[in-house]
Amino acid sequence: MKQETRAIPLSGAYLDEREEELVVEVLRSGRLSLGPTIDRFEEAFAKKVGAPYAAAVSSGTAGLHLLCVSAGVKPGDEVITSPYSFAASANCFVYEGGVPVFADVDRRTFNLDPAAVEAAVTPRTKAIVAVDIYGYPCELDELRAIADKHGLALIQDSCEALGAEYKGEWLGSHGPPAVFAFYPNKQMTTGEGGIVTTHSEEEWRLLRSLRNQGRGDSGGWLEHVRLGFNYRIDDVRAALGLGQLEKLDEILALRDAVAARYGELLAGIDGVELPCADDASHKRSWFVYVVTLPDNAARERVIAHFEREGIGFNRYLPSIHLQPYMRERYGFGEGMCPVSEDLSSRTLALPFFTALERDAQERVAEALAAAL
Ligand SMILES: Cc1ncc(COP(=O)(O)O)c(C=O)c1O
Repeated sequence: MKQETRAIPLSGAYLDEREEELVVEVLRSGRLSLGPTIDRFEEAFAKKVGAPYAAAVSSGTAGLHLLCVSAGVKPGDEVITSPYSFAASANCFVYEGGVPVFADVDRRTFNLDPAAVEAAVTPRTKAIVAVDIYGYPCELDELRAIADKHGLALIQDSCEALGAEYKGEWLGSHGPPAVFAFYPNKQMTTGEGGIVTTHSEEEWRLLRSLRNQGRGDSGGWLEHVRLGFNYRIDDVRAALGLGQLEKLDEILALRDAVAARYGELLAGIDGVELPCADDASHKRSWFVYVVTLPDNAARERVIAHFEREGIGFNRYLPSIHLQPYMRERYGFGEGMCPVSEDLSSRTLALPFFTALERDAQERVAEALAAAL
């Protein structure tokens, strides 16, 4: 009975003694930043996803920002992205003066609808930030074709999608630069952190310079060849990342199993729509488990129930264009992206993490059924 009333968190990291060992090694080495562990982490990560180059950074947001700089986004340039995403998918180019243009999403996948993206292109469009929301790969080939046709940069916000496969290959391997994030709710974590994969050596060198205050490959500590940032990761976090990479296959398999259990437990509950299934071209990497409920009132009923039961949840995800600062800055309002707005009003993230156990999932399913 006691077990029954334990709180179930929304997310949680999956770490063991191996990460401790690697972190202690770095602490004892004295090379806490700009050291060899970062290079090791980048090489191992690039190899894992199938990209020739990777540059680790202080967060996913930092990585996205650097790709917007690399793409040459300038004040007044329009950048098309998804409204049904985390704010950083748009903030990354707003930092450079880019103007957000939100194209609506597909009702099934929650990812950018390529037809809406094509319709949003204007002579001022500079880039597309394509998001793989909830770990489900976006329509990469269609979006690449649009980008190529109009001469636009394509940036993949794969922050939630490490290990997801598009047409049988891991995201990051296809060609466009991609960003992955390592906050503790992600598939793997470095505490805070992120990484950019690229297929261009030139872009990789630029990213390494930009993250390190614009320092050049040669030249001294106090020579800055361009305007840069301090977006460095440190060796302690890179050590954590190495430990996580060693167990990434295990993590992804365990998350698949957690998602499959939710699939069984929730299948019979009236009013609960499950995340879309994989198909021949898209294999999800499970980041969160988001269900779609009949309407906002049903969602609030479920939330009230979860709160009483100590079950973690979040109203994933509000539409970015309706965030207070977006309304104020650009005059955005309801009706711009009806599909995204509809989803935002009734999607709900359930507790989801690598070590989530069946009995906790049963409690979540029972609470959902009871509330609905
Ligand atoms: C889709 C998406 N983009 C960007 C980010 C930003 O990553 P970070 O929190 O590491 O800056 C996140 C992280 O939550 C995300 O989910």
